[in-house]
Amino acid sequence: HAPYSRFAVGAAIRTVGGALHVGANVENASYPEGWCAETSAIAAMVSAAEPGPGRRIAAVCVVADTIDGRLTTPCGGCRQRLAEFGMPDTEVTVSDPEGRARTYRLADLLPESFSMEKTA
Ligand code: THU
Repeated sequence: HAPYSRFAVGAAIRTVGGALHVGANVENASYPEGWCAETSAIAAMVSAAEPGPGRRIAAVCVVADTIDGRLTTPCGGCRQRLAEFGMPDTEVTVSDPEGRARTYRLADLLPESFSMEKTA
């Protein structure tokens, strides 16, 4: 639902448990109230699965048009939301609609991230 930007984005999450959850960006007439495709996919995952491997993100793919020839990568807020349910090695693949793609590690997209988990 992107009537304001006309920039459609889709996201698909594969969990450690093996399930797939998808989302789209959902814009709003009050622009800041819109949410990203990654956020929608995370909401679908949390709605569908109990805590555990069904809520742990193994991989996410984001599909959108390129901007000035560059693939669309998740915004800062979505990187933090992905980190909430992901792992340092979670694969983040960004692709254009023709399948030109690149894969990053989540920890490379969000280094030194904030987390409440004790690592000791
Ligand atoms: N958008 C996403 O859904 N995911 C991204 O990774 C980047 C941006 C959306 C938000 C808004 O609906 C539109 O793209 C233009 O910013």
